[in-house]
Amino acid sequence: MKQDLFRKKSISAMIKESGDSGGGLKRTLSATNLVTLGIGAIVGTGIFVVTGQAAAQYAGPALTISFLISAFGCVLAGLCYAEFSAMIPVSGSVYSYSYATIGELLAWFIGWDLILEYLFAVSSVAVGWSGYMCNLLSGWGLELPPHLIQSTFEHMAGEGWVFTGSIINFPAVFIIAIVSSLLLAGVKQSTLINTIIVVVKVTVILLFIGFGLSYIDTSNYHPYIPENTGSFGDFGWSGILRATAVVFYAYLGFDALSTAAQETKNPQRDMPKGILISLLICAVLYIAVTTVLTGMVNYTELDVDAPIALAIDRAGKGLHWLSPFIKLGAIAGISSVILVMTFGLSRIYYAIGHDGLLPRMFSKVNLKTGVPQNATLFAGIGCGLVAGLFPLHVLVEMVSIGTLMAFAIVCLSVIVLRKTQPDLKRPFRVPWVPIIPLLGAGICIMQMVSLPWSTWMRLIIWTVVGLAIYFLYGRKRSRLNEK
Ligand code: ALA
Repeated sequence: MKQDLFRKKSISAMIKESGDSGGGLKRTLSATNLVTLGIGAIVGTGIFVVTGQAAAQYAGPALTISFLISAFGCVLAGLCYAEFSAMIPVSGSVYSYSYATIGELLAWFIGWDLILEYLFAVSSVAVGWSGYMCNLLSGWGLELPPHLIQSTFEHMAGEGWVFTGSIINFPAVFIIAIVSSLLLAGVKQSTLINTIIVVVKVTVILLFIGFGLSYIDTSNYHPYIPENTGSFGDFGWSGILRATAVVFYAYLGFDALSTAAQETKNPQRDMPKGILISLLICAVLYIAVTTVLTGMVNYTELDVDAPIALAIDRAGKGLHWLSPFIKLGAIAGISSVILVMTFGLSRIYYAIGHDGLLPRMFSKVNLKTGVPQNATLFAGIGCGLVAGLFPLHVLVEMVSIGTLMAFAIVCLSVIVLRKTQPDLKRPFRVPWVPIIPLLGAGICIMQMVSLPWSTWMRLIIWTVVGLAIYFLYGRKRSRLNEK
C-alpha cells in the first residue's frame, strides 16, 4: 500500500512515450518560438499595472532594486526548470518531473498545485485585462453596465464572502473564450498570434523607454530609498523586500514554457535557452521601465491602474501621441499572457489525464490540429468561471502561493535527482548544486511564509479536495496499475 503511493514512472519510459512525434502532440516549436512564447507569457499585468502601485506603496524609486532581487530568485528557479525540461522534455512540467523523482502521490499533489497556479494566473490576468479594456472603452465614451464588469463575489475583511449584485465580469470571460478558441485552432496559429503580440508589446515598451529618457527629472530619484515610515514594508529596505514579493508576479510565466517541451523540435538544446533568455530579456526591460517611470513621475503619484500611460500623459504634449499605443500595447500584451498560461494549463490536464490520474479523455489529441481538445476546452471553461466570479486580490494571492510552492519543489527535486539518478543524461546542468537550488528554494519558502493566513487556508482546502480526488479516483485509475 505504502509503496503504491510512492510508485514512480521511469524517466526513460516517459521520454520514450513522448517520442519523436511528441506522443500525438506536434513538434513545431523552435528556439525563437520559445523565447517569444516566454516573453508572451511573462510581460503583462505585472509591468503595466503592478509596477506603479509597488513604487507608490512600498519601495519608491528603489523599486529597480526589488526587480533585480526578484529576477535573481527567478533565475535560480529558471536554471532548475532548464535542467529538468531538457532532461525530461514532456508536457507535464513539474508534475512529470516529480512523478519520476518522488512518486505518484506527491506528483499528483504537485500537478494539483500547478492547476491552481495556472487556473488562478489566467483568471487574475483576465480580470486585469477587463479593467484596462473598460478604461479604454470609457475613454471612447462606451460604458459597459456595472453588473457586467464586476466579479459576482467579493471577500470583505470581517464579513467573509459577499454577493456584489453583479452578474459576472463579462470582459474577463470574453477574453478567455477568444484565447481558448485560438488555442483550439492549433499551436502554429497560436504561436503566430503570440509573436505578433510580443512584437507590439516590446515595441511599445522600447518606445516608452526611448522617448521617456529625455523626460526624466533626476530630482524624482531623491530620496532613492524613501525612509521607512516605522512599519515593516512601508519603504526603506523592508519596503524593497515587500515590493520584491509583489513584483515576483511580473516574472511569472517562464515556467509555463516548460509545458511546451513535448511540442518543441529540439527540447534538449532549446528549452534551457528559451527559459533563460526570455527571463533575462524581461528582467532588462523591467529594470529599464522602472528607472524611466520613477524618473518621469514622482513615486508618490504612481498608485494608479495605468502608471505607464500616466507618465506619458504627464510628459506634456510632445509625447501624447504615444498614449493610445501604450494602452493598446498593454491590452495586447496582457492577452498573450492569458494565451500562454491557458496553453500551460491545458498541457497539465493533458499530462495528468494521460497518466490516468484525471479522466483519460483529457489526453485525447485532435489529429488534425494536434491540440488536446478536451483539456483545452476544460481549461478555458474553468478559467472563465473563476475569472467571472471572483475578485482580483484573492486570485493574485492564490497564484503566488501556488507558484512559489512549485518553484521550491523544482529546486529541491534537482538535488534529489542528482543523488538518486546521477547517471541520467543532463543536456543542461545547474551550476553549483546544491547551493543554487537550495538558495532558490529558500527564497521561495521565505516569500510563502510572508503570505497571509487566509491564503494558506485556501491552499489547505484546495489540497484536501485534491487528495480526496486522488484517493477516490486517480489511485484506482492510474496507468501504473496496468503493469
Ligand atoms: N507575469 C505575468 C504578468 O505580469 C503574470 O502579467
